Amino acid sequence: MFLHQYFSCFTILTILKALVHVSDAQLSTCYYSTSCPNVSKIVSSVLEEAFQSDPRIGASLIRLHFHDCFVNGCDGSLLLDNSSSIKTEKDSISNANSTRGFDVVDNIKAALENSCPGVVSCADILAIVSEAAVSMSGGPSWEVPLGRRDGRKANRKKADDCIPRGSDNLSNITAKFSRVGLNLVDVVALSGAHTFGSAQCRVIRGRLYNFSGTGQPDPTINTSYLKTLQDKCPQTGNGLGLANLDPVTNYTFDNQYFTNLQNHMGLLSSDQELFSTTNASSIDIVNTYSKDQATFFENFVKSMIKMGNIKPLTGKKGEVRLNCRKVNNK
Ligand code: HEM
Repeated sequence: MFLHQYFSCFTILTILKALVHVSDAQLSTCYYSTSCPNVSKIVSSVLEEAFQSDPRIGASLIRLHFHDCFVNGCDGSLLLDNSSSIKTEKDSISNANSTRGFDVVDNIKAALENSCPGVVSCADILAIVSEAAVSMSGGPSWEVPLGRRDGRKANRKKADDCIPRGSDNLSNITAKFSRVGLNLVDVVALSGAHTFGSAQCRVIRGRLYNFSGTGQPDPTINTSYLKTLQDKCPQTGNGLGLANLDPVTNYTFDNQYFTNLQNHMGLLSSDQELFSTTNASSIDIVNTYSKDQATFFENFVKSMIKMGNIKPLTGKKGEVRLNCRKVNNK
């Protein structure tokens, strides 16, 4: 069985490599089968270790993949630090003092450079670690299409404009997804990643105390949940406290998030909008996922693969960065 898989992967890879000369290469689940056969194991072992000291890390890492892919495609641009030629996306509105896990990406990259120098791109690391984070947290596992190369540019302005924000309404969010080829099913399925991880109080303060300038809380929040959140997130202070995105099963990747929305316990307004926007088509999708975890998992995997396929650099485009924080030879 294993040999059979190996050879079919090998054959497909050989054909794909031959085709690169006539067209752009596609991503392939076999991409590293010969050049770095243990890539998944290496990524998983670094992630497992990181989980020991930081149970939130899986959530933080999948978010990096999302924020990378929405800005000029999945090209690792988010990982670049400031330099003479780079204005880092890490300082953009949605990322500043918010995205985290970059040190774990560095550790994964170092482990991979040790075993397969110059082979595995930073953009692929984000895709691989996202799958590992989901499956290690009780969610689905899947074969990740690979072969992305790393970009040599960052785009702060696009990061400001294209990454959805917690205060965006459903139509803004759908528009931002649609710009990168993702539809409403993708919006709802991928929002299911808010089944784990947390958000800072400052992100939800408006909902808790002064929703849309009304001086009142968001009326779509369940009253006892509102009280819990107000206790956790006071109206004043630095707003750096954390609230779980899924207050019921926070560290588990499951379909509880959708049941929370039915119970008016979505943490971000962008979450609750999926269920509480009058006549929205997303309501039926939320109801389906809440009833049927298998369908949620199946759609989540499809949408993750679609998201991971946003404008990848393949073939000879871009490069395989040696350090995820900077372009090569700079
Ligand atoms: C639908 C539009 C989305 C919006 C408006 C949104 C917004 C947010 C916001 C505001 C936070 C909290 C940030 C903070 O506290 O600083 C957050 C956290 C998070 N987001 Fe999203 N998000 C969206 C979609 C997604 C997608 C598609 C994924 C992944 C596939 C994702 C994964 C996560 C995770 C796992 C966290 C928690 C991260 C952690 O604990 O470090 N989100 N999101």
